[in-house]
Amino acid sequence: MKFFIDTANLDEIKEAQELGVLDGVTTNPSLMAKEGITGKENILNHYLKICEIVDGDVSAEVIGTSFEEMIMEGEELAKLHPQIVVKIPMIKDGVKAIKYFTDRGIKTNCTLVFSSGQALLAAKAGATYVSPFIGRLDDISTDGLLLIDEIRKIYHNYNVKTQILAASVRHTMHVVNCAKIGADVMTGPLSAIEGLLRHPLTDSGLEKFLADAQSMNV
Ligand code: E4P
Repeated sequence: MKFFIDTANLDEIKEAQELGVLDGVTTNPSLMAKEGITGKENILNHYLKICEIVDGDVSAEVIGTSFEEMIMEGEELAKLHPQIVVKIPMIKDGVKAIKYFTDRGIKTNCTLVFSSGQALLAAKAGATYVSPFIGRLDDISTDGLLLIDEIRKIYHNYNVKTQILAASVRHTMHVVNCAKIGADVMTGPLSAIEGLLRHPLTDSGLEKFLADAQSMNV
């Protein structure tokens, strides 16, 4: 399973990249706004800075909601850097835009997916990634992981190439469970990735090894 980090914070992206396990980045307008980035030029520059830090795909979301707006914005984003993936919302014009970009060899990430029907439609349009938001489903007492499982089954039935990008991952067990189900990618905060490191037996075991090594005067 690929690990993407879901942030526009350059320090966090650098930290994840230095760990050596980062495969890409996802952003959205809320994450960009959180970093205080304003104005089109600064936004485009920020995407470039992210692409310089990581080697893999970087999702940059369109803001327009009409087909024409999404095409204009998406083409500009795709031209910016070869690592850019155009992130498009799951709406009617969004589906048309995904098909348009697919036909031109431009990678897309279909975002705001909350049902397997939407995931099926995104795949039919040829999306590179489909992003079901598991954390936001959990927030309304619906099991987000069940959606990942359902999409995995549907895509398996038809050998669909669209990659399942489990989004809105909030914690470490989301990461582990997405891997158990067979999501292709997960995107979440750095804390969810770092949580995979932790086990008390690792800490106590290391403490004992170090104490015994010291007793050998090495
Ligand atoms: C997906 O690409 C989104 O950026 C993201 O995962 C949303 O996560 P949230 O529900 O924690 O805001």
